[in-house]
Amino acid sequence: MFSAPAGNPTPLGVGAISPGDLMSFLVSAQTIQRSLTQLSLVFGTALRGWTAGARIHEFLQLQPRNTSGTVRIPYHTLEGNIEMRDVSFSYPTRSGHPVLVHLNLDIKAGSTMALCGPSGSGKSTIASLIQRLYIPPQGSIKLDGVDLREVNPCWLRGKVIGVISQGAKQTLF
Ligand SMILES: Nc1ncnc2c1ncn2[C@@H]1O[C@H](COP(=O)(O)OP(=O)(O)O)[C@@H](O)[C@H]1O
Ligand SMILES: [Mg+2]
Repeated sequence: MFSAPAGNPTPLGVGAISPGDLMSFLVSAQTIQRSLTQLSLVFGTALRGWTAGARIHEFLQLQPRNTSGTVRIPYHTLEGNIEMRDVSFSYPTRSGHPVLVHLNLDIKAGSTMALCGPSGSGKSTIASLIQRLYIPPQGSIKLDGVDLREVNPCWLRGKVIGVISQGAKQTLF
């Protein structure tokens, strides 16, 4: 890459490298440095992907606990009325902390309902109960008159209810 000057040897550093060679050295060094920076970015992204993949795999291996219930309401008779009666609920991990107490709520088919309340008041919990992610120990939740305990949970979540979580809004809009 570097050419030695012809003729008498010169003191180190004086005329040892031509301006062209120096430029080419600097450009090459910069290119290598940029490539290494890019490589570290790619490595970071790959590592994040790898970790996310492992987490997804972990979720795919989970076995559902609440699998009881076989009823599938025929498509032509399904309306979508939801009726919550005297529902009390606390999360299994915090049994001493009641989230819903004697809740009665009717959501008529075709209507739009907004649940408003301060953070932690139980709005998401109601959405979870309607998806049958938990079965309340007291009270009943019915879909078109059928108790959710009897409804096939895969059918309920796969064909009846669609959920868009709060965290997805940046991606959607
Ligand atoms: N998975 C959970 N395990 C234990 N407690 C929970 C869980 N999810 C929510 N909670 C608690 O239940 C209460 C209601 O929460 P949540 O339904 O998420 O409220 P909101 O959606 O209205 O902000 C809060 O006190 C919250 O800390
Ligand atoms: Mg919430």
